[in-house]
Amino acid sequence: MRNEKNDVLIVDDEAGMRHMLRLVLEKGGYRVTEAKDGREALDYLRHGDYDLILCDIRMPEMDGLEFLREIAARDIGGIVIMMSAYGSVETAIQCLKAGAYDYISKPFKPDEVILALRKAQQKLRLQRENALLRKKLSRGKSNHEIVFQSTAMEHLMAMVSRVAQSFSPVLITGETGTGKELVARALHRQSARGDCPFVAINCGAIASGLIESELFGHSRGAFTGALQQKPGLIEEADGGTLFLDEIGELPLELQPKLLRVLQEGEIRRVGENLPRKVDVRVLAATALDLREAVAKSRFRDDLYFRLAVVEINIPPLRERREDIPVLAKHFIGVIADREGRSAPCLTPLALDVLRRQNWDGNVRELANFIERAMIFSRGDTLEIDGMPLDRRFENRKNGKDFSLKKASVRLEKEYIRKALAVTAGNRTQAARLLEISLRKLLYKIKEYRIES
Ligand SMILES: Nc1ncnc2c1ncn2[C@@H]1O[C@H](COP(=O)(O)OP(=O)(O)OP(=O)(O)O)[C@@H](O)[C@H]1O
Ligand SMILES: [Mg+2]
Repeated sequence: MRNEKNDVLIVDDEAGMRHMLRLVLEKGGYRVTEAKDGREALDYLRHGDYDLILCDIRMPEMDGLEFLREIAARDIGGIVIMMSAYGSVETAIQCLKAGAYDYISKPFKPDEVILALRKAQQKLRLQRENALLRKKLSRGKSNHEIVFQSTAMEHLMAMVSRVAQSFSPVLITGETGTGKELVARALHRQSARGDCPFVAINCGAIASGLIESELFGHSRGAFTGALQQKPGLIEEADGGTLFLDEIGELPLELQPKLLRVLQEGEIRRVGENLPRKVDVRVLAATALDLREAVAKSRFRDDLYFRLAVVEINIPPLRERREDIPVLAKHFIGVIADREGRSAPCLTPLALDVLRRQNWDGNVRELANFIERAMIFSRGDTLEIDGMPLDRRFENRKNGKDFSLKKASVRLEKEYIRKALAVTAGNRTQAARLLEISLRKLLYKIKEYRIES
């Protein structure tokens, strides 16, 4: 982290004011530079580095507001605190809107200025920590990167780019661990909605009694325990993409309601009479054969046909073995990166062994396998000789715990704690940092009993 600097740029047309401020600030341990108007201040900013700027609003050459707009447009300068004379509160508010951090009204006591500066520095510190954490979280290879070599996947990815541009729903099918969620995220990212929310819901993971209010929201008092009205996940995805994982698990009675979302773009919160408009693009995934579910009347055919307008089927890994080497190398790189060690290489023999496996758990199983092999390999080649390839799902070996699930829970807890720490317990900001929904964060905080 950059060293804390205590440089303050004062922008004011009154020499007396500048002088007074200089005395106060120097006493408070700050180094001061003076500018007599916005134009001169801009000059200083172009050549120096000032985190803190104290700026008068009314000045002859370039006034405070104009100055703010200039630095916002050029993306220079640090935190700006405006100084407004009596009666110009409205202007001060305008300044806050234009990007100023704070304002103090003239005349002020020395303490007030120092306090405002300290607050701004606190904010700067948080900003820097956030940026650092964000960098840390996304360090190394993106965990949403789709790695492949096979022509099957090449065609699939071409299809993804084409389909991403349309609004129609997409049904993503494939065995467990083939990368359905990854493809859904890619579809979202490549679409025009890429910067809007991506909300993922696992229809199989929410208790059936709760799923309607989770998805559609509820009004206050809609049922016992509904103390507040609450928008559902579908509304949370408004403008963006809704990813319904394990769509085959969606209870039959909710299926017509989802169809309504798809056809009219309407939802109704539990306990409300009037529908609300939503604009979501729906992606769904299933590892089950939905047609079979339709045949057995467990899934409505009208919904199936609507969802499956476009179907993307991800072939199992054993049908695209060319992907195995690049995927193995990718996972080795990710883990090495994460652990700050150099990446061991794969011998041709090891590659051959990996290529021959059946990988019923597909890419996820391969990733888990590599993770375990990395634990055993201390040298510069990946040791897989001693690895029980046929009993890979076994969790405990030599009394040590290799559960990836437990390991990722540990990691999640750690990151959530960090995110809460740097945001001073602000859950909305923490969720943003962690790139998960607030709802998911709250759920995890509860589940993991994290106290903030
Ligand atoms: N082509 C790929 N490149 C890189 N990583 C991949 C690829 N395919 C899958 N993965 C990784 O494998 C794991 C499983 O992928 P994902 O969760 O998308 O599978 P899924 O089909 O949704 O599985 P499930 O049906 O069990 O929910 C994830 O960690 C994902 O990042
Ligand atoms: Mg999945």
